[in-house]
Amino acid sequence: MNQKSMNQKSMNQKSINTIPMVDVQAWHRPIQAQLEKKALKVLRSGRFIMGKEVAFFEQEAADYLGARYAISCANGTDALILALQAAGIGPGDEVLTTGFTFFATAEAIMQSGATPVLVDIDSETFNIDPVELEGSITSRCRAVLLVHLFGLPAALSEIQAVCDRHGLILLEDCAQSFGASYHSRKTGNFGLLGAFSFFPSKNLGGFGDGGLVITNQLKAAEMVRKLRNHGSSSQYHHDCPGYNSRLDEIQAALLRVKLQHIEAFNAQRQQVAQWYREFLSGSEVLFPQHHHEHIFHQFTVVLPSGRDMVKKRLAEKGIASAIYYPLPLNKQRALAGIAVEHALPVCGQLSEHCLSLPIYPGMTRSQTETVARTLINVMDCQGSLYTQSAF
Ligand SMILES: Cc1ncc(COP(=O)(O)O)c(C=O)c1O
Repeated sequence: MNQKSMNQKSMNQKSINTIPMVDVQAWHRPIQAQLEKKALKVLRSGRFIMGKEVAFFEQEAADYLGARYAISCANGTDALILALQAAGIGPGDEVLTTGFTFFATAEAIMQSGATPVLVDIDSETFNIDPVELEGSITSRCRAVLLVHLFGLPAALSEIQAVCDRHGLILLEDCAQSFGASYHSRKTGNFGLLGAFSFFPSKNLGGFGDGGLVITNQLKAAEMVRKLRNHGSSSQYHHDCPGYNSRLDEIQAALLRVKLQHIEAFNAQRQQVAQWYREFLSGSEVLFPQHHHEHIFHQFTVVLPSGRDMVKKRLAEKGIASAIYYPLPLNKQRALAGIAVEHALPVCGQLSEHCLSLPIYPGMTRSQTETVARTLINVMDCQGSLYTQSAF
């Protein structure tokens, strides 16, 4: 074999074996031309803030999600803060939320002046456990901020029933669940308000930061609209202090392009999840079962033990993986002595055993097979590590 073909072989080997968590190029390839055309149009328009693209995007997002109102903002964390404030949550209030989520969920509760009450999760769904939820209610609790983690809708019927029984406002953190449904209704519509993130790796990922709040109540929508723009409902008239939290025209324009393809993108993620299930079946790995309404923001498995070593070995073989999340919220320094904390044994266990594998639209069957087979191999090679089962 000559040098050139050896180089080619090693390049092919590299491209076969290097699998990132998200391959943005592969994801966007089919729509790249559309995106570039749209970006150029905005650059040439000279209008960059609160123009037509934002207005169209909000209408199209509302239509797609089946909500009466959609109000865009600067990022998903702001969307949560705006939703909490529009719901009237503030100092002295307590808000129940999951102990297993990205920090921003609890951070938003704290930024709104309220106190998070952390609740344990269901070991199979990674989502808040409705029984634990009811058992954690205090006299100061005014709301539940649930999270549809990894793209799987939380147990909404049970949670709504808890809220109804105790007069709690329901709010949804849908940062990871754009397009996921529960009994055929899109997440974000069950609570008074739902908050979404367009961070680039999200299912509807933008090209920078972005966020959205949806609601079916006019009063809540008006409050979010006002708060995201300096508490103003007409130019230079300010009713209350708010924020500068607007979505840029260019983000809105590009998100409009991606929104047209969200169903296909989510279906591709579901296909990858199906392949993983096929390749991992019979192994020691616990993986998410088929659930047609799961839109697989992440494909997160639970390993019996040796998780950190497995992650390291995968990386040596060119396969990315991620730990969402290495610490449950009750272990975060920022929440020490602030959050009302109950025992969170399931959060604790899963944070030590979970591992998220690459998943994105455009990921191929053979890449999925490589990840799954390498994972099983790495685990087999360290057989001695696997003497005890986590659950
Ligand atoms: C569950 C959850 N909530 C909130 C956020 C915050 O979104 P953003 O990064 O757009 O502020 C994220 C983003 O990572 C998230 O995953």
